[in-house]
Order: sequence, then C-alpha cells, then structure tokens
Amino acid sequence: MSRLNPQNLYDKARETADRLLDIADQIPEYGIVLGSGLGTLSEDIQIDDEIPYGEIPNFPVSTVKGHKGSLILGWLEGKYVMAMNGRFHFYEGYNMYEVTFPERVMKLMGINKLIVSNASGGVNTNFRIGDVMIIKDHINFFPEHPLRGPNDERFGPRFVNMSEPYSQKMIEIVENYARERGIQFRKGVYLGLQGPTFETLAEYQMVRAMGGDAVGMSTVPEVIVAKHMGMEVFGISVITDLGDEDFIKNVNHQEVLQEAKKAEPVVRELVRALVKRY
Ligand code: HPA
Repeated sequence: MSRLNPQNLYDKARETADRLLDIADQIPEYGIVLGSGLGTLSEDIQIDDEIPYGEIPNFPVSTVKGHKGSLILGWLEGKYVMAMNGRFHFYEGYNMYEVTFPERVMKLMGINKLIVSNASGGVNTNFRIGDVMIIKDHINFFPEHPLRGPNDERFGPRFVNMSEPYSQKMIEIVENYARERGIQFRKGVYLGLQGPTFETLAEYQMVRAMGGDAVGMSTVPEVIVAKHMGMEVFGISVITDLGDEDFIKNVNHQEVLQEAKKAEPVVRELVRALVKRY
C-alpha cells in the first residue's frame, strides 16, 4: 500500500469519497468520530450500512484494542450521518496525512459538520474522573503537522485561521441543552501529545502550566484538517484519569476504556441533542 502524502492525497480522498457516495443514501450532514471507549454511541444510529475500514479504498486500518474500525452510514435524530467507529492515531505509525484522511474524505463527500470525541487525562485540579468536557480550544503539541508540505488549494488555504477551532454555536447549543436537563459538564482546553506513553507527573504538570485542562493523543490533527477545509467542529472529551500524584499510578488503557464507558451515556445524550437541534 502506498503511503498517503500531500501529492496523492486529493486524488485518493476523491476516490474514497466517490466510493462512499455510491453506497450512501445521500450526502451525510454530520461526520462523527467515536473515540476510545465511546463506540456504543453508534447504537443510537439507525444503521443503513457498516463498512469495515479494510474494505474502503485507501483507508488505513485501525489496530488499537477498543477501536473496532468500521464506518457507519445511518440516521441519528432524523439526520443522515457518517460515523467512524475507531480512528487512526499518530502513535500507531500512521503519518499525519493518514491520521486525518477520514476528515478529507468527509469534506469531499460534502460533509461540513464534524463531531469528535475522545478520552483524556484531566490536569485541571477541579476535574474528576468521569467528567465530560466540552472542548473549547486546543493546543497542538504533536511533533508533526498535518498541513506540512505543499498546500493543495483544492482543500483550503496555506495559512489557516484557527481563531474558532471549535464552533461557538455548537458549544452553546450543547451547553443550553445540558443546563436545561441539569447535566453536569466541564469546558476546557485539550492539549494533544503524540503518546503512546501516558504522561509522567512532570509532564502532566507541564500540560497544566501550558494552559491545558486535559491531555490526550488524538483529535488535534483531525480538527486542524477540518478547519483547513472550513468545516464546523464540535469536540467532547471524557476525563478518564487524572494527572496528579494520587491517581497517576493507576493510569492504564483498561482503566481509560472503563471510565470512558461509564461516562458514555452523557456523551451520547449531548451528541444526540446537538445533531437534533442543529
Ligand atoms: N494522557 C494521554 N492520553 C490519554 C490519557 C492521559 O492521561 N487518558 C486518556 N487518554
């Protein structure tokens, strides 16, 4: 399989988008990325088609436990959506063009709204395990940038405005819903690191000092690419562990998946509300 690069990216994404449009009933209104332990969100979708990543032309294949790796086309709250059950992480060895390929495909299909979800480690001292955090902004600390290299103007401009990476409008809709229903939530800054190691105590402290409320190994490259193409983005994170002295010893993948599962009903409800109202 030839690796994706800035030269072949547009044609490959076009080919994949056309293939998926052949299968799809219509142009989906939303693209949704289901993060670690948040895959059952797909149970809310009335599924028309489910396609394993291995059967989608040009798609990388997800390998991490807890990431199933299939694309879902179907109906959520009366809207036709495309959901990715499993994402591609930089730490798995994919390059940044591969990590963000699904967003390229979504946009070429005609999708303009993206919802991303993930599990993250809380560094804000007010946060507790199981909290749900609406992502209001991010800090990119990945060692590679998904827009590095020759810019393809068909996707978007060379220099991308990042003043509103996460849609204020979408945030407001979800906040209003949560308040109406008395659902507790946090709002904060997600800082993206490459992993796959969880952070040392000193690194969690660094994340806090740099302005992060939570830290994780995904999402940021996807959102950058979505903004490159002018998509509107909503991001939501489950705090699955805390980067402080008392909790750091327990951080492991199993724990992360378990805690994400527990908070999943809340994430599902908020995502459904957003799709229904906007
Ligand atoms: N650090 C990085 N990524 C994560 C964490 C964490 O503590 N928890 C879940 N994903």
